[in-house]
Amino acid sequence: MGQGQTGAGARHLQVRAGALAAALLAFVSLASRATPLPEIEVDVHDKASLQRGARLFMNYCLSCHSATYMRFSRLARDLDVPEAVAKQNLMFVSDKIGDTMQVSMNPREAETWFGVAPPDLSVVARARGVDWVYGFLTSFYRDPSRPSGVNNLMFRNTAMPHVLWELQGWQEPVIENKPDDSGQSVETVVGVELAEPGALGAEEFKAAVRDLVGFLAYLSEPAKPLRQRVGFWVLWYLAVFLAVAYLLKWEYWRDVR
Ligand code: HEC
Repeated sequence: MGQGQTGAGARHLQVRAGALAAALLAFVSLASRATPLPEIEVDVHDKASLQRGARLFMNYCLSCHSATYMRFSRLARDLDVPEAVAKQNLMFVSDKIGDTMQVSMNPREAETWFGVAPPDLSVVARARGVDWVYGFLTSFYRDPSRPSGVNNLMFRNTAMPHVLWELQGWQEPVIENKPDDSGQSVETVVGVELAEPGALGAEEFKAAVRDLVGFLAYLSEPAKPLRQRVGFWVLWYLAVFLAVAYLLKWEYWRDVR
């Protein structure tokens, strides 16, 4: 009986290991098939860039997405924007500086329009990572089979329309024949190319999206600059205190010895 149990245990373990290996393999093949992530740098200390990003966000995103955890007053303070200027240039959905950044659209209506309610973007830069969000915003391409007329390299069949088309223009997919899992050749979108330019040049557009993603990174952790500043002084204090403590120890132990 004891032996039987051990046998069952071992089989169980084997099954588990098999499942784990299968899951790992699936993950690796998925990862290798997905479009590679772009890599970008954002600087949440660069206030001019954050201000430009905030303006883009208010103009192009807040109509559908909210950022419930941020108040306009805090935004104005953190980004060094005087309240009067903030009211005029950033606040299109509310006129009370103490309000949080709520979308005016009813989430239920949004769901009937898009099929999914646009999610709150307060922490999206942390949840998805800045590289992914940048890749998402820059890789919309024309796809007549979708209700919105576009698809996306990072987020297949996303319900979000290409809201930055005026700035970026329109991209067409680059299609190649690639073998799928069963070895059959299928048409796969491997990249995008600009077909109709928008109001901004390609580099200008990338810079604008970097500002926007930088702003989303700030949104997802508004206290980061403060945290880093305080951390710096705390470490300094500890270093000085260590020196003082050491000298004190030295002084006391001189008498003991
Ligand atoms: C017309 C409405 C609309 C506007 C305007 C809009 N979005 Fe979206 N967005 C959506 C919808 C709907 C989704 C959900 C997509 C899905 O799940 O398929 C979405 C999803 C996203 C996601 C993915 C979130 C996640 O983790 O799944 C990000 C990031 C995003 N939007 C950023 C933006 C930014 C930045 C802007 C402004 C430039 C913007 N959106 C403007 C409708 C909109």
